Amino acid sequence: MMNIFEVLKEEHSSLKETLSEVLELGEKGDAFSDFKDEFDCHTRGEEKYLYPESSSAGFKELALLLKEEHDAARILLKQMDGMSGKEETWVPKAKVFQELITAHIQREEDSLLPRVEQKMDERKVGEMTKKYEELKGATV
Ligand SMILES: [Fe+2]
Ligand SMILES: [Fe+2]
Repeated sequence: MMNIFEVLKEEHSSLKETLSEVLELGEKGDAFSDFKDEFDCHTRGEEKYLYPESSSAGFKELALLLKEEHDAARILLKQMDGMSGKEETWVPKAKVFQELITAHIQREEDSLLPRVEQKMDERKVGEMTKKYEELKGATV
C-alpha cells in the first residue's frame, strides 16, 4: 500500500496531466470538470490532514503559504468555471492557472513533503494515510 506522500505525488502527476489535457483542448470540456473534481478532493485532503501536520512539525509558515496558493487557485478556477470557455480570455486564464498549480506542486514536492515525512514516524504516516483515503472514499 502506498503511503500518504506517495499518494499525494501520484495525484500531483494526475492533476498536471489532466490540466495539460484542458490546455490542449483549449476550451471547457470533460477534462475541465475532471480536473475540478480531482483538485477539490486533493486540496481539501491536504488542508484537512497534511497542512495541520506540517504546522505541528515546524513548517507553519510554509503551510500557510501553500494554503494561500490553494485559495488563489480556487478564485481562478471559479472564474474559469463561470465562463463558457469560448471567450478569448479563457485560455490565457487557464495558462496562468497552470503556472500557479505547477509552481505550487513543485513547492510541495521540493520543500514540504520530504521534510514532513522525515519528521513523522511510521505509525503516524500510516494513520494519516488511512484518514486521507477515507476522506477521498467519502467524497468520490
Ligand atoms: Fe496543495
Ligand atoms: Fe498537493
